[in-house]
Amino acid sequence: MKILNIIGSPRKNGTSSRIANAFTETAAAYGASVSDYPLNTMQYRGCQGCEGCHTRSERCVLLDDVTQLLEEMYSADVVVFSSPIYFGDTCGQFKLFYDRMYSLINTDQANDADNSSRLPPGKVAVLILAHVERAGVYNDVQERYTDYLEIYGFEVHSIIAGGLPLQSNSDIDEHLEVASQLARELSRAE
Ligand SMILES: Cc1cc2nc3c(=O)[nH]c(=O)nc-3n(C[C@H](O)[C@H](O)[C@H](O)COP(=O)(O)O)c2cc1C
Repeated sequence: MKILNIIGSPRKNGTSSRIANAFTETAAAYGASVSDYPLNTMQYRGCQGCEGCHTRSERCVLLDDVTQLLEEMYSADVVVFSSPIYFGDTCGQFKLFYDRMYSLINTDQANDADNSSRLPPGKVAVLILAHVERAGVYNDVQERYTDYLEIYGFEVHSIIAGGLPLQSNSDIDEHLEVASQLARELSRAE
């Protein structure tokens, strides 16, 4: 099982990163290969809206640290998308990357309904979000990101850690266990 671990939080040991790592470490123990992409340490630009990926190329025409990550998506089995909630959405580092996934969609500009994924089918996404407001407040964020991930053909599993204190070392054992359990289930189903 090939896993890409896209880490949106700038806090290396923050809540969302710890949950993502619980997932990847358990999967690795079952033999998965894991590549970490800590977005905050990478150099990249957001989507330029140039439509180069739908006119000049099948790939995003920007060449930077996100280029390899987008390429790896084609062969990955599982992609972990994790982010804290900042002002009611994913953090900037994550959104900047997420917009670049536009290049993974076929867009027939004459017919907007004809959107289909360029990624091979059968991939799993693990969506991890962390926030301080009580659980359930950001269901809309979870739903929106799930809807878009499904357009790319992902089967989406979400782990949402809400109602947390601001400190990154808060007790999240319950969420870590959910992440490990999901990794065990996906590994056994392989
Ligand atoms: C700039 C900024 C904006 C934030 N906005 C929100 C928010 O809108 N709602 C919320 O519940 N928490 C908000 N938070 C708190 C974080 O979502 C929370 O601390 C989260 O657990 C951090 O996740 P991390 O440890 O994975 O980075 C914000 C934090 C920062 C730094």
